[in-house]
Amino acid sequence: MKITVVGAGNVGATCADVLAYREIANEVVLVDIKEGIAEGKALDIWEKSPINLYDTRTTGSTNDYSKTAGSDVVVITSGLPRKPGMSRDDLIETNAGIVKSVTENVIKHSPEAIIIVVSNPLDVMTYQAHVTSKLPRTKVMGMAGILDTARYRSFLAEALNVSPKDIQAVLMGGHGDTMVPLPRYTTVGGIPVTELIDEDKLNAIIERTKTGGGELVKLMGTSAWYAPGSAAAQMAEAIVKDQRRVFPVCVKLEGEYGIDNCYLGVPVVLGKNGIEKIIELDLNEDEKKLLDVSRDHVKEVMEVLDKIND
Ligand code: NAI
Ligand code: 2OP
Repeated sequence: MKITVVGAGNVGATCADVLAYREIANEVVLVDIKEGIAEGKALDIWEKSPINLYDTRTTGSTNDYSKTAGSDVVVITSGLPRKPGMSRDDLIETNAGIVKSVTENVIKHSPEAIIIVVSNPLDVMTYQAHVTSKLPRTKVMGMAGILDTARYRSFLAEALNVSPKDIQAVLMGGHGDTMVPLPRYTTVGGIPVTELIDEDKLNAIIERTKTGGGELVKLMGTSAWYAPGSAAAQMAEAIVKDQRRVFPVCVKLEGEYGIDNCYLGVPVVLGKNGIEKIIELDLNEDEKKLLDVSRDHVKEVMEVLDKIND
Protein backbone atom coordinates (compact mmCIF):
# COMPACT_ATOMS: atom_id res chain seq x y z
CA MET A 1 0.00 0.00 0.00
CA LYS A 2 1.18 3.51 -0.84
CA ILE A 3 -0.01 6.68 0.86
CA THR A 4 0.89 10.21 -0.20
CA VAL A 5 0.66 13.15 2.17
CA VAL A 6 0.66 16.56 0.48
CA GLY A 7 1.92 19.39 2.68
CA ALA A 8 4.91 18.61 4.86
CA GLY A 9 4.04 21.20 7.49
CA ASN A 10 2.89 20.51 11.03
CA VAL A 11 -0.14 18.33 10.22
CA GLY A 12 1.29 16.61 7.13
CA ALA A 13 4.59 15.64 8.74
CA THR A 14 2.80 14.37 11.85
CA CYS A 15 0.44 12.31 9.70
CA ALA A 16 3.36 10.84 7.68
CA ASP A 17 5.17 9.98 10.91
CA VAL A 18 2.13 8.14 12.33
CA LEU A 19 1.60 6.31 9.02
CA ALA A 20 5.24 5.22 9.07
CA TYR A 21 5.81 4.20 12.68
CA ARG A 22 2.48 2.38 12.89
CA GLU A 23 3.30 0.64 9.55
CA ILE A 24 -0.07 1.63 8.11
CA ALA A 25 1.39 1.49 4.56
CA ASN A 26 4.65 0.11 3.19
CA GLU A 27 5.35 3.33 1.31
CA VAL A 28 4.69 6.91 2.40
CA VAL A 29 5.47 9.85 0.10
CA LEU A 30 5.53 13.36 1.52
CA VAL A 31 5.16 16.30 -0.93
CA ASP A 32 5.58 20.02 -0.38
CA ILE A 33 6.07 23.07 -2.54
CA LYS A 34 8.89 24.43 -0.34
CA GLU A 35 12.23 23.19 -1.69
CA GLY A 36 13.71 20.37 0.37
CA ILE A 37 11.25 20.39 3.29
CA ALA A 38 9.41 17.19 2.32
CA GLU A 39 12.65 15.36 1.48
CA GLY A 40 14.17 16.46 4.79
CA LYS A 41 11.23 15.48 6.98
CA ALA A 42 10.77 12.15 5.14
CA LEU A 43 14.46 11.38 5.63
CA ASP A 44 14.23 12.24 9.32
CA ILE A 45 11.25 9.87 9.71
CA TRP A 46 13.14 7.13 7.84
CA GLU A 47 16.23 7.63 10.04
CA LYS A 48 13.99 7.07 13.08
CA SER A 49 12.95 3.61 11.82
CA PRO A 50 15.83 1.66 13.42
CA ILE A 51 15.03 3.31 16.77
CA ASN A 52 11.26 2.85 16.73
CA LEU A 53 11.45 -0.38 14.70
CA TYR A 54 9.35 0.01 11.57
CA ASP A 55 10.05 -0.61 7.90
CA THR A 56 7.69 1.76 6.08
CA ARG A 57 9.76 3.47 3.36
CA THR A 58 9.27 7.23 3.67
CA THR A 59 10.42 9.54 0.88
CA GLY A 60 9.89 13.20 0.07
CA SER A 61 9.46 15.29 -3.04
CA THR A 62 9.42 18.98 -3.87
CA ASN A 63 6.31 19.25 -6.02
CA ASP A 64 7.23 16.25 -8.22
CA TYR A 65 4.01 14.25 -8.31
CA SER A 66 5.46 11.47 -10.48
CA LYS A 67 6.84 10.13 -7.18
CA THR A 68 3.28 9.83 -5.86
CA ALA A 69 2.08 7.69 -8.80
CA GLY A 70 -0.17 4.79 -7.90
CA SER A 71 -1.05 6.00 -4.39
CA ASP A 72 -3.96 4.19 -2.78
CA VAL A 73 -4.76 7.08 -0.45
CA VAL A 74 -3.75 10.76 -0.62
CA VAL A 75 -4.03 13.06 2.39
CA ILE A 76 -4.14 16.77 1.48
CA THR A 77 -2.86 19.03 4.26
CA SER A 78 -1.35 21.78 2.09
CA GLY A 79 -2.50 25.30 2.83
CA LEU A 80 -2.29 28.10 5.32
CA PRO A 81 -3.16 27.40 8.97
CA ARG A 82 -5.09 29.84 11.16
CA LYS A 83 -3.34 32.60 13.07
CA PRO A 84 -4.83 34.20 16.20
CA GLY A 85 -7.92 36.24 15.35
CA MET A 86 -8.62 34.33 12.11
CA SER A 87 -11.53 31.98 11.50
CA ARG A 88 -11.12 28.85 9.36
CA ASP A 89 -13.26 30.57 6.72
CA ASP A 90 -10.71 33.40 6.39
CA LEU A 91 -8.39 30.91 4.70
CA ILE A 92 -10.69 30.12 1.80
CA GLU A 93 -9.18 32.17 -1.02
CA THR A 94 -5.60 31.02 -0.61
CA ASN A 95 -6.38 27.44 0.30
CA ALA A 96 -8.93 26.91 -2.48
CA GLY A 97 -6.26 27.59 -5.12
CA ILE A 98 -3.78 25.32 -3.33
CA VAL A 99 -6.26 22.43 -2.89
CA LYS A 100 -7.40 22.74 -6.52
CA SER A 101 -3.89 22.56 -8.01
CA VAL A 102 -2.81 19.81 -5.61
CA THR A 103 -5.91 17.72 -6.45
CA GLU A 104 -5.23 18.09 -10.18
CA ASN A 105 -1.67 16.83 -9.72
CA VAL A 106 -2.76 14.00 -7.44
CA ILE A 107 -5.43 12.70 -9.84
CA LYS A 108 -3.08 12.88 -12.83
CA HIS A 109 -0.73 10.38 -11.19
CA SER A 110 -3.14 8.39 -8.97
CA PRO A 111 -6.53 8.35 -10.70
CA GLU A 112 -7.78 5.58 -8.41
CA ALA A 113 -6.74 7.19 -5.12
CA ILE A 114 -9.06 7.89 -2.23
CA ILE A 115 -8.60 11.50 -1.08
CA ILE A 116 -8.72 12.68 2.54
CA VAL A 117 -8.78 16.48 2.83
CA VAL A 118 -7.48 18.21 5.95
CA SER A 119 -6.92 21.80 4.73
CA ASN A 120 -9.31 24.44 6.06
CA PRO A 121 -12.02 25.55 5.79
CA LEU A 122 -12.44 21.78 5.88
CA ASP A 123 -15.96 21.15 4.59
CA VAL A 124 -15.53 23.53 1.68
CA MET A 125 -12.01 22.34 0.81
CA THR A 126 -13.52 18.83 0.61
CA TYR A 127 -16.02 20.30 -1.85
CA GLN A 128 -13.12 21.80 -3.83
CA ALA A 129 -11.24 18.49 -3.99
CA HIS A 130 -14.42 16.63 -4.93
CA VAL A 131 -15.34 18.87 -7.87
CA THR A 132 -11.74 19.07 -9.08
CA SER A 133 -11.10 15.33 -8.88
CA LYS A 134 -14.47 14.35 -10.40
CA LEU A 135 -14.28 11.20 -8.28
CA PRO A 136 -17.41 9.66 -6.76
CA ARG A 137 -18.37 11.15 -3.39
CA THR A 138 -17.39 7.89 -1.69
CA LYS A 139 -13.74 8.57 -2.57
CA VAL A 140 -13.33 12.19 -1.45
CA MET A 141 -13.82 13.00 2.21
CA GLY A 142 -12.70 15.43 4.89
CA MET A 143 -11.12 14.88 8.30
CA ALA A 144 -12.59 16.89 11.16
CA GLY A 145 -15.11 14.75 13.00
CA ILE A 146 -12.53 12.38 14.46
CA LEU A 147 -10.57 15.37 15.75
CA ASP A 148 -13.58 17.23 17.17
CA THR A 149 -14.88 14.03 18.77
CA ALA A 150 -11.41 13.26 20.18
CA ARG A 151 -11.27 16.69 21.81
CA TYR A 152 -14.70 16.11 23.35
CA ARG A 153 -13.69 12.61 24.53
CA SER A 154 -10.43 13.87 26.03
CA PHE A 155 -12.20 16.66 27.96
CA LEU A 156 -14.77 14.17 29.25
CA ALA A 157 -12.06 11.70 30.30
CA GLU A 158 -10.39 14.48 32.29
CA ALA A 159 -13.64 15.60 33.95
CA LEU A 160 -14.67 12.03 34.88
CA ASN A 161 -11.13 10.91 35.69
CA VAL A 162 -11.43 7.85 33.47
CA SER A 163 -9.51 6.51 30.49
CA PRO A 164 -10.24 8.24 27.17
CA LYS A 165 -10.26 4.72 25.68
CA ASP A 166 -13.61 4.06 27.33
CA ILE A 167 -15.41 7.10 25.97
CA GLN A 168 -17.42 6.55 22.81
CA ALA A 169 -18.99 9.55 21.12
CA VAL A 170 -19.95 11.14 17.84
CA LEU A 171 -20.12 14.78 16.80
CA MET A 172 -21.69 15.84 13.53
CA GLY A 173 -21.93 18.88 11.27
CA GLY A 174 -19.41 21.32 9.88
CA HIS A 175 -15.90 21.75 11.28
CA GLY A 176 -16.37 24.96 13.20
CA ASP A 177 -18.35 26.56 15.94
CA THR A 178 -21.58 25.14 14.45
CA MET A 179 -20.53 21.53 14.98
CA VAL A 180 -23.34 19.39 16.44
CA PRO A 181 -22.64 17.57 19.71
CA LEU A 182 -24.76 14.51 20.46
CA PRO A 183 -24.61 13.79 24.22
CA ARG A 184 -27.43 11.30 23.69
CA TYR A 185 -24.95 9.12 21.81
CA THR A 186 -22.06 9.51 24.28
CA THR A 187 -21.22 6.56 26.52
CA VAL A 188 -18.55 5.77 29.09
CA GLY A 189 -17.85 2.05 29.06
CA GLY A 190 -21.39 1.56 27.80
CA ILE A 191 -22.99 3.86 30.43
CA PRO A 192 -24.82 6.94 29.07
CA VAL A 193 -22.66 9.97 29.92
CA THR A 194 -25.69 11.83 31.26
CA GLU A 195 -25.75 9.38 34.21
CA LEU A 196 -22.17 10.30 35.17
CA ILE A 197 -21.91 14.07 34.78
CA ASP A 198 -24.27 16.93 35.54
CA GLU A 199 -25.79 18.96 32.73
CA ASP A 200 -23.84 22.18 33.40
CA LYS A 201 -20.50 20.41 33.32
CA LEU A 202 -21.43 18.55 30.14
CA ASN A 203 -22.55 21.79 28.47
CA ALA A 204 -19.27 23.47 29.42
CA ILE A 205 -17.36 20.58 27.81
CA ILE A 206 -19.47 20.85 24.67
CA GLU A 207 -18.77 24.59 24.45
CA ARG A 208 -15.03 24.00 24.96
CA THR A 209 -15.09 21.39 22.19
CA LYS A 210 -16.75 23.76 19.73
CA THR A 211 -13.94 26.26 20.19
CA GLY A 212 -11.24 23.63 20.77
CA GLY A 213 -9.32 24.56 17.62
CA GLY A 214 -9.30 28.24 18.62
CA GLU A 215 -8.11 27.39 22.16
CA LEU A 216 -4.95 25.87 20.64
CA VAL A 217 -4.46 28.71 18.14
CA LYS A 218 -4.50 31.15 21.08
CA LEU A 219 -1.92 29.10 22.96
CA MET A 220 0.45 28.38 20.07
CA GLY A 221 -0.05 31.15 17.51
CA THR A 222 -0.92 28.50 14.91
CA SER A 223 -3.31 25.57 14.73
CA ALA A 224 -2.96 22.10 16.17
CA TRP A 225 -1.13 19.18 14.54
CA TYR A 226 -0.65 16.11 16.78
CA ALA A 227 -4.33 15.19 17.05
CA PRO A 228 -5.19 16.31 13.48
CA GLY A 229 -2.25 14.39 11.96
CA SER A 230 -3.14 11.25 13.92
CA ALA A 231 -6.82 11.56 13.00
CA ALA A 232 -6.03 11.72 9.27
CA ALA A 233 -3.72 8.70 9.64
CA GLN A 234 -6.50 6.80 11.42
CA MET A 235 -8.82 7.40 8.47
CA ALA A 236 -6.14 6.24 6.01
CA GLU A 237 -5.60 3.12 8.13
CA ALA A 238 -9.31 2.24 8.08
CA ILE A 239 -9.24 2.45 4.28
CA VAL A 240 -5.99 0.62 3.46
CA LYS A 241 -6.73 -2.13 5.99
CA ASP A 242 -10.43 -2.30 5.04
CA GLN A 243 -11.31 -2.03 8.74
CA ARG A 244 -14.88 -0.79 8.29
CA ARG A 245 -14.43 1.61 11.21
CA VAL A 246 -17.30 3.88 12.20
CA PHE A 247 -16.14 7.49 12.27
CA PRO A 248 -17.65 10.93 11.79
CA VAL A 249 -16.35 12.06 8.37
CA CYS A 250 -17.11 15.00 6.11
CA VAL A 251 -18.85 13.81 2.93
CA LYS A 252 -21.20 15.24 0.35
CA LEU A 253 -24.78 14.64 1.48
CA GLU A 254 -27.24 13.76 -1.24
CA GLY A 255 -30.52 13.62 0.65
CA GLU A 256 -29.28 11.99 3.86
CA TYR A 257 -30.60 13.80 6.95
CA GLY A 258 -32.90 15.68 4.54
CA ILE A 259 -29.86 17.64 3.30
CA ASP A 260 -28.82 17.84 -0.31
CA ASN A 261 -25.62 19.03 -1.98
CA CYS A 262 -23.76 20.00 1.19
CA TYR A 263 -20.49 18.73 2.70
CA LEU A 264 -20.98 17.90 6.38
CA GLY A 265 -19.59 15.57 9.02
CA VAL A 266 -21.78 12.50 9.57
CA PRO A 267 -21.08 9.02 10.91
CA VAL A 268 -19.91 6.66 8.17
CA VAL A 269 -18.38 3.22 7.74
CA LEU A 270 -14.85 3.57 6.32
CA GLY A 271 -13.32 0.70 4.36
CA LYS A 272 -11.42 -0.18 1.21
CA ASN A 273 -13.82 1.67 -1.08
CA GLY A 274 -13.73 4.82 1.06
CA ILE A 275 -17.17 5.72 2.41
CA GLU A 276 -18.83 2.31 2.46
CA LYS A 277 -22.02 3.59 4.09
CA ILE A 278 -23.47 6.78 5.53
CA ILE A 279 -25.19 6.05 8.83
CA GLU A 280 -28.42 7.99 9.30
CA LEU A 281 -29.20 8.59 12.96
CA ASP A 282 -32.72 9.37 14.03
CA LEU A 283 -32.06 12.91 15.25
CA ASN A 284 -34.51 14.63 17.58
CA GLU A 285 -35.89 18.05 16.76
CA ASP A 286 -33.21 20.02 18.64
CA GLU A 287 -30.37 18.04 17.07
CA LYS A 288 -31.88 18.42 13.59
CA LYS A 289 -32.17 22.19 14.13
CA LEU A 290 -28.48 22.39 15.06
CA LEU A 291 -27.55 20.34 11.99
CA ASP A 292 -29.56 22.67 9.77
CA VAL A 293 -27.74 25.70 11.23
CA SER A 294 -24.45 23.98 10.46
CA ARG A 295 -25.65 23.17 6.93
CA ASP A 296 -26.63 26.81 6.33
CA HIS A 297 -23.20 27.98 7.45
CA VAL A 298 -21.32 25.50 5.23
CA LYS A 299 -23.58 26.32 2.27
CA GLU A 300 -22.74 30.02 2.65
CA VAL A 301 -19.03 29.25 2.46
CA MET A 302 -19.64 26.86 -0.48
CA GLU A 303 -21.21 29.80 -2.32
CA VAL A 304 -18.10 31.88 -1.64
CA LEU A 305 -16.05 29.10 -3.20
CA ASP A 306 -18.37 28.94 -6.23
CA LYS A 307 -17.73 32.67 -6.80
CA ILE A 308 -13.95 32.17 -6.51
CA ASN A 309 -14.10 29.34 -9.05
CA ASP A 310 -16.35 31.24 -11.52
P1 NAI B 1 1.70 24.35 7.94
O1 NAI B 1 1.87 25.76 7.49
O2 NAI B 1 2.55 23.83 9.02
O3 NAI B 1 1.89 23.39 6.67
C1 NAI B 1 1.28 23.62 5.44
C2 NAI B 1 2.25 23.15 4.37
O4 NAI B 1 1.60 23.21 3.10
C3 NAI B 1 3.52 24.03 4.28
O5 NAI B 1 4.68 23.25 4.45
C4 NAI B 1 3.44 24.60 2.87
O6 NAI B 1 4.70 24.78 2.25
C5 NAI B 1 2.61 23.55 2.15
N1 NAI B 1 2.01 24.02 0.90
C6 NAI B 1 1.47 25.22 0.63
N2 NAI B 1 1.07 25.25 -0.67
C7 NAI B 1 1.36 24.03 -1.19
C8 NAI B 1 1.18 23.46 -2.47
N3 NAI B 1 0.61 24.13 -3.48
N4 NAI B 1 1.62 22.20 -2.67
C9 NAI B 1 2.21 21.49 -1.67
N5 NAI B 1 2.40 21.99 -0.43
C10 NAI B 1 1.97 23.25 -0.19
O7 NAI B 1 0.15 24.17 8.28
P2 NAI B 1 -0.49 22.98 9.14
O8 NAI B 1 -0.55 23.36 10.55
O9 NAI B 1 0.16 21.71 8.73
O10 NAI B 1 -2.00 23.02 8.60
C11 NAI B 1 -2.29 22.63 7.27
C12 NAI B 1 -3.77 22.87 6.95
O11 NAI B 1 -4.57 21.97 7.71
C13 NAI B 1 -4.27 24.27 7.29
O12 NAI B 1 -5.16 24.69 6.29
C14 NAI B 1 -5.00 24.07 8.61
O13 NAI B 1 -5.98 25.05 8.83
C15 NAI B 1 -5.60 22.71 8.37
N6 NAI B 1 -5.99 22.00 9.58
C16 NAI B 1 -7.17 21.32 9.52
C17 NAI B 1 -7.59 20.56 10.59
C18 NAI B 1 -8.85 19.78 10.48
O14 NAI B 1 -9.38 19.33 11.50
N7 NAI B 1 -9.39 19.56 9.30
C19 NAI B 1 -6.82 20.51 11.84
C20 NAI B 1 -5.55 21.23 11.77
C21 NAI B 1 -5.18 21.95 10.66
C1 2OP C 1 -8.41 22.69 14.38
O1 2OP C 1 -9.57 22.44 14.70
C2 2OP C 1 -7.55 24.58 13.08
O2 2OP C 1 -9.15 23.13 12.15
C3 2OP C 1 -8.09 23.21 13.03
O3 2OP C 1 -7.45 22.55 15.18
